[in-house]
Amino acid sequence: MERTFLMLKPDAVQRGLSGEIISRFEKKGFKLAALKLLQVGRNLAEEHYKEHKGKVFFEPTVRYIMSSPVIAMVWEGKNVISLAREMMGATNPANAGPGSIRGSYAMDISRNIIHGSDSVESAEREISLYFHPEEVLTYKKAGEEWLSE
Ligand code: TYD
Ligand code: MG
Repeated sequence: MERTFLMLKPDAVQRGLSGEIISRFEKKGFKLAALKLLQVGRNLAEEHYKEHKGKVFFEPTVRYIMSSPVIAMVWEGKNVISLAREMMGATNPANAGPGSIRGSYAMDISRNIIHGSDSVESAEREISLYFHPEEVLTYKKAGEEWLSE
């Protein structure tokens, strides 16, 4: 079963959108494997966005995720990496579909409320940045037999 790393960015937490966004992933049928509230420090923020080092938006984006607590999560499910990205919508909320998370709750690329891994490799890397292996739980969830054959 596939896993992805999702993060509710500072604006999502400050704006009181956490429950609403988490609820979307729960209702979709994905399984929560890990969750923590934390304030991201400089080293972790730069490591998180290292693929973007040297780009004009790198420093503002690093500062943004350090600016206030975030909620880091691991979600599990069939094709969860690509499906979660679909549910999030385009990076720029101005281009995100109206029913998507970014399309519903955000308007500017610099405050786009949620992060999600974009591949199996980045999911593994990001999960290990934010969680110790023993913090990512495996368990049986009621109703799984109603989600797929
Ligand atoms: P990116 O990995 O391209 O997007 P995503 O979060 O959808 O995987 O970029 C990382 C973050 O950097 C993005 O969420 C918001 C910020 N960003 C900007 O501020 N301006 C930009 O032009 C881009 C591409 C990203
Ligand atoms: Mg990205």
